[in-house]
Amino acid sequence: MTMDYEDLDRRARDILRGNDRGGYTLPTDGLYPYQWNWDSAFAAWGFAEFDLARAWTELETLFSGQWPNGMVPHILFHRPNAGYFPGPDVWGAEGIGPILSSGISQPPVAATFVRAIFEKDRTLGEPHARALFPKLVAWHRWFRDWRTEAGAVVVTHPWEAGRDNAPDWDGAMAAIDPVGVGEYKRRDTSHVDPAMRPTKYDYDRYIWLVQLGRRLRWDEAAMRTENPFRVADPAMTFILMRANRDLAILGRALGEDVGEIETWIGELEAGAAGLWNEEIGAYDSFDTRARKFSGCVTCASFLNWYGGVDDERMLSQIERVWSAKRYAVPSLDPGHPQFNSKRYWRGPVWAVFNTLIGLGLESCGRRDHAARLRETTRALIGEHGFAEYFDPIDGSPAGGGTFTWTAAVWLAWASPSARGA
Ligand code: GLC
Repeated sequence: MTMDYEDLDRRARDILRGNDRGGYTLPTDGLYPYQWNWDSAFAAWGFAEFDLARAWTELETLFSGQWPNGMVPHILFHRPNAGYFPGPDVWGAEGIGPILSSGISQPPVAATFVRAIFEKDRTLGEPHARALFPKLVAWHRWFRDWRTEAGAVVVTHPWEAGRDNAPDWDGAMAAIDPVGVGEYKRRDTSHVDPAMRPTKYDYDRYIWLVQLGRRLRWDEAAMRTENPFRVADPAMTFILMRANRDLAILGRALGEDVGEIETWIGELEAGAAGLWNEEIGAYDSFDTRARKFSGCVTCASFLNWYGGVDDERMLSQIERVWSAKRYAVPSLDPGHPQFNSKRYWRGPVWAVFNTLIGLGLESCGRRDHAARLRETTRALIGEHGFAEYFDPIDGSPAGGGTFTWTAAVWLAWASPSARGA
């Protein structure tokens, strides 16, 4: 099939503009009607391909929601929307941050994109980068202080990982008895097919964890003691490692002291090494409460290159996983009994994960692998549109449509016109 790349570029720009709510971009209208943390960082990177000023605004709006303790929330509820559950009334975090928000964070990809956008035009970018730098440092310090165990980054809710329904969390979720969660009405299943979404079993536990945080007024010290869910995640660990590397480079360019950031990188490298699960021969999530690996090779396992860890052992793993199905990289190993090509984070391909894995392969000099992954992603989006995610068997689009981050990574990485990082 010959593709009209110019038309695809145009459609991607239209999606970003269409989801723009003035200063921030929705992941997609309907299903996700607010500003999401890492979606927004990807959106900024996409905007930077055609509107640098708008790219900076996106990041500045995201950081305008930063909490006094440094945390940058996973959702900013700028304007009420009855079509979304759980909204600000359920999170109960009013008064803590400057904007109504959730009480957890999300993968810290922002520093990497701040650096990339700064590199595109240093003169224009300098005041923006200078203002954002201390905010990024404060956020990363929050991760260091409240979200690391033995050097690896832990998540306190599956939503914090950005891979909501991944099998990585099954053990820790099973240990929760969602007693007293009460009645609630989900909204996600009225926007997309319930077969693609998490089950009621999972959702009860998601809400139970939100209620726990709310009861503790999102106090990190109390949560560290009381939250049964603390799972170390290779994706979060490698993403923060990369973010710190980029933040240190940015800081040096701005003449800032980056000694503290360099210490964090070393700690994260040690933490990531501890996530190597010998039994499956891959980086794996580790439940720090039950002291158990999840036993799953997932798309998170392949972020070692993105973190800057060029691990030979992962090359044969990625080759095995991506040749098992037509489209790489499935979010779960197709050989795993839980693999489901349509269900959220249990099989489908996310273009954003491909992008992060591809950027990593590129920066570690694994050019052939990176090029192959980029071509697959290009074909997937080119043939099947800007969906939230895709079936790895036939490429069919799934979840929400006209998705911001898919359009953004198209523009910045997958399109032939992309100038990227
Ligand atoms: C889902 C995804 C998460 C994303 C959000 C908005 O919750 O799992 O990663 O940030 O949707 O797109």
